Formats: sequence, C-alpha cells, structure tokens
Amino acid sequence: MLIKIPKSGDIRSSEITSETVFHQRRQILKAMGLGAVALGAPLTAGATSGERDLYTTQAPLKGPAWLEDKLKTLTPGPYSTRESATPFDYVSAYNNFYEFGTGKTDPAENSQGFVTDPWKVEVAGEAELTGKFDLEDIVNPYALEERVYRLRCVEAWSMVVPWVGFPLADLLKRFKPNSNAKYVRFETLHDPEQMPAQGSRFATIDYPYVEGLRMDEAMNELAFLSVGVYGKAMPNQNGAPIRLVVPWKYGFKSIKSIVKIEFTKRRPKTTWELSNSREYGFYANVNPGVDHPRWSQSRERRLPASLFSQNYVETLKFNGYAPHVAHLYKGMDLRKYY
Ligand code: MTE
Repeated sequence: MLIKIPKSGDIRSSEITSETVFHQRRQILKAMGLGAVALGAPLTAGATSGERDLYTTQAPLKGPAWLEDKLKTLTPGPYSTRESATPFDYVSAYNNFYEFGTGKTDPAENSQGFVTDPWKVEVAGEAELTGKFDLEDIVNPYALEERVYRLRCVEAWSMVVPWVGFPLADLLKRFKPNSNAKYVRFETLHDPEQMPAQGSRFATIDYPYVEGLRMDEAMNELAFLSVGVYGKAMPNQNGAPIRLVVPWKYGFKSIKSIVKIEFTKRRPKTTWELSNSREYGFYANVNPGVDHPRWSQSRERRLPASLFSQNYVETLKFNGYAPHVAHLYKGMDLRKYY
C-alpha cells in the first residue's frame, strides 16, 4: 500500500538535511529497471518510474575495502516509500542494541571500538551446504541495493531508513535448505569483552541475542540482510557488519551483528520471547489491533520527535506492508500468535 518507488524529486533534500548529512540527488537512470530484472523482483503497485535517487551521507563511515568497492555499484532497490527518511543523525544515535547498554545513546557511545572486520558467519543446520564463511564470501555474489523501509519498534517509535543490502532469500537458497528446514534461526556475536552488557550481572536479557523466522517469512521478498545505511557501511550501533531487516515486524526481530544462521526443524527460542512471552511473541507482526500489555500499539512516534512535538502517526497493520505479507498469516489468529 505504501511501498512505492518515488519519482525523482519525491523526497526533498530539505526534509532530511542536517548538519552532517545531506541527501545527494544522484540520478541512476534506469537503475531500478535493471535491478528488478536482475533480481527477478516484482514491481509493486505504484512503481511508476525507472529512476530513483540514492541516499548518501557525509559521515566518515568506512567498511573493509571489498565493501567500499561494492558500495560504488549500489543501485536503488525495488522497495521505497514517499515518506521522508529519518535523518542519519537519528538513525545512528537513537538505537536499541542492548549488548552495548539499554539507553538510546549507549550503543553509539559504547560501540565505537567494536571490531567487525574480519567477520565470519556460520551457516548451519538443515541444509545441503553448511560451514563458516568470511563475510566477504557471504555478500560477494549479490548486487547491493538500497531499500527505504519503515522500522517500527515495539516501544511505539518509528523511523524510515535507507538500508543497503540484499534479499535474505537469495542467501538462504544458496545453501540449499532441505525439507526439514521449517525455520531460520539467527544469532548475534557473543563477546563480553567487546559488548559490555553481555558480561553484566544486571543484564536484562540473555545473550547471545537470538531471533528467528518461519521459512516462508524468511523467503519473503521484503526480508533483507543489510550491510549499510545511507549509502555507506553499517555503523556499529546499527548492527555492523551485517543485520536482518524485516520491516513488517517489530524492530526487535531485526537482529544485529549476525554470526550464525541456522536452518531448524523446530521453532527457535528467541530472546524477547524467552525474556517475557506475555509481552513479546515469536511472530511480532506490527499490529495496531493488538496492544502491548503495557501500552497501546495504535500509533507511533515518528522520529525525529520531541517532548513538544511528538509527531504521532497512525500505526498500520504489518507496518503498511500487508499486500506483501498478509498471505503468510492467512487463517492465523493474530491475537494468539502475536
Ligand atoms: N539486535 C541485537 N543483537 N540486540 C538488540 O538489542 N535490538 C532490536 C533490534 N536488533 C537489538 C537487536 C530492537 S528492539 C530494535 S527496535 C532494532 O534492533 C533497532 O535497530 P536500530 O538501532 O538500527 O534502529
């Protein structure tokens, strides 16, 4: 419904410009069309243009040389929105990454020394091909694309983020999951020396952070593995070097700094469900009709917001992505499977 490919000029640079960020309007003629053919991705309703701008930032974010090279070929992906992107300053300063602290500015403050290169990702479980791979080998086969998605946190705030990455399905298919593979389980790095909250006696959740998707959810066209934002390598606080983005679900499903991807027979036990299953379910689909036990989910604060200007917007079912994902839950009682 709200997923659109804006015509050039739909997103005004003035809407996202801040001191350190600017929106460089690079016209990538026909890039969208070429990208869609290469990926075999269907165009969504509202796809009216063969061109779209990329978001870029002046922030001095640098990934390893292989990633910097790949970023030069970044093209606009098939999914975007007419809504203004949240300024990079907010995307990279207001975070949830409990491994680095529970305050919103803790991740940016405490993750600057986090070492994300070299990085390995293990692929395990019910698949023909498994093993431990350098991140470069994981990412290498895929063209990087930019997707501008809404991110709706269960805490009732939201952002609009230009992610850089590639479809999760493309990666999963490469490892040839077998017929026992019913779910995909993801795990964040466990390294208390680098992630101070993992070693704390007062930790609010168990580590490593674990998330999971049903196989058909993981294969959905919107599920995305992201290695950057705003045209640059991923900031540490946002989940460098690689994270999941599932825009129709509450943000806690979008696990950061992934070191393991496992195909499983059984539904994985996920961090927030383990911590409090009454408040956080496995599915965690954005749903304004099912309140959190302690607050309403009918609306959200769209960042940037302030005490004086809360900037509330109405929350949409599946975060507005129903045309792409509602069929996954046909016949399911979403009050029970929250
Ligand atoms: N992944 C890990 N490993 N640890 C976390 O604490 N927080 C989640 C998710 N992924 C979290 C995580 C939550 S609650 C949200 S809302 C998003 O990351 C926030 O992503 P952002 O900081 O890039 O906005």
